[in-house]
Amino acid sequence: MSATFKPRVFSGIQPSGGLTLGNYLGALRRFAGFQGTDRETIYCVVDLHAITVWQDPEKLRHNTREVAAAFMASGVDPRQSILFNQSQVAQHAELAWLFNCVARLGWMERMTQFKDKGGANAERVSLGLLAYPSLMAADILAYHATHVPVGEDQKQHLELTRDVAAKFNHDYGTEFFPITEPLIEGTATRVMSLRDGSKKMSKSDPSDASRINLTDDADQIAQKIRKARTDADPLPGSMDGLKDRPEARNLVNIYAALSGETADRILPRFEGQGFGAFKPALAELAVSVMTPITAEMNRIMADPAEIDRILGDGAERAAAIARPIVEGTKEIMGMIRSR
Ligand code: AMP
Ligand code: TRP
Repeated sequence: MSATFKPRVFSGIQPSGGLTLGNYLGALRRFAGFQGTDRETIYCVVDLHAITVWQDPEKLRHNTREVAAAFMASGVDPRQSILFNQSQVAQHAELAWLFNCVARLGWMERMTQFKDKGGANAERVSLGLLAYPSLMAADILAYHATHVPVGEDQKQHLELTRDVAAKFNHDYGTEFFPITEPLIEGTATRVMSLRDGSKKMSKSDPSDASRINLTDDADQIAQKIRKARTDADPLPGSMDGLKDRPEARNLVNIYAALSGETADRILPRFEGQGFGAFKPALAELAVSVMTPITAEMNRIMADPAEIDRILGDGAERAAAIARPIVEGTKEIMGMIRSR
């Protein structure tokens, strides 16, 4: 990456339904740690992404505030970071259009998330669902962001963001856009469903038992862990022994992510025991980590006007960074601007 770009972290979360333990462990809980004096941190509730599939307007408003509350409950400080919702900063949509003319159709059609969501219905999905990665590239590049912390499922979209930046730079003979680094790290880059160890934990899974929601209370968390699918074998002393046991591996990984220990340190304590011993320990740990966050989210959600004020303030600060970058892009592309 070119050294001329100052370190700037950007990440986004869609307000398209309740948040899960996967969102928390793979993304949210890492965000506060990037806050520091030597870099800017920009966190965005990506409402323009959410509407690529239909959203009930009242629910979208609620979910936007809830994601903002989750950012804050996870330690994002709106004074240290910029926290806002995407649609309040017009530069995202504007730069996305410019990138629609740089990115290639084939790149979009190759995205596994598009293939999964579009499926057999690919002709009937919104055009926005196809163009989604172009908007994501715009989110990141409108700020010349250098680092993007996300879960594993966003890897392909971030590669496309790098491709857009490189193609723009090449086509216009410039080094205007940075080649962004994905930050996909830790033990929980891909938390799996509690019902099926081959599927990621997702807010869009029809089964509520498949996930732990950030709004679940202690009883719901404990019950979902108790009912999580596992196998009948005892636990081995190291992760090597869990190679072909995806559900068991997932629960151990969740334990590791929640406790901050490595799986290979945890397993010897449970070696030879079944899930009858492991699940209550995991439930207790999950409840102790998650319920304070849920309580904090609820506290923040009690004052929606204050959330809206924070998002508005963040949007102004975000626009101040994005505006000259998008103007610079248009200038490079040959568009006339009045001065
Ligand atoms: P989304 O809810 O799709 O907007 O995702 C928000 C963030 O959470 C992204 O960084 C995702 O990569 C991350 N994420 C979503 N689901 C999971 C999961 N099951 N495990 C780990 N990270 C996840
Ligand atoms: N596509 C991401 C997701 O579904 C959300 C997102 C949109 C994002 N724009 C972003 C993440 C920019 C990181 C950076 O999870």
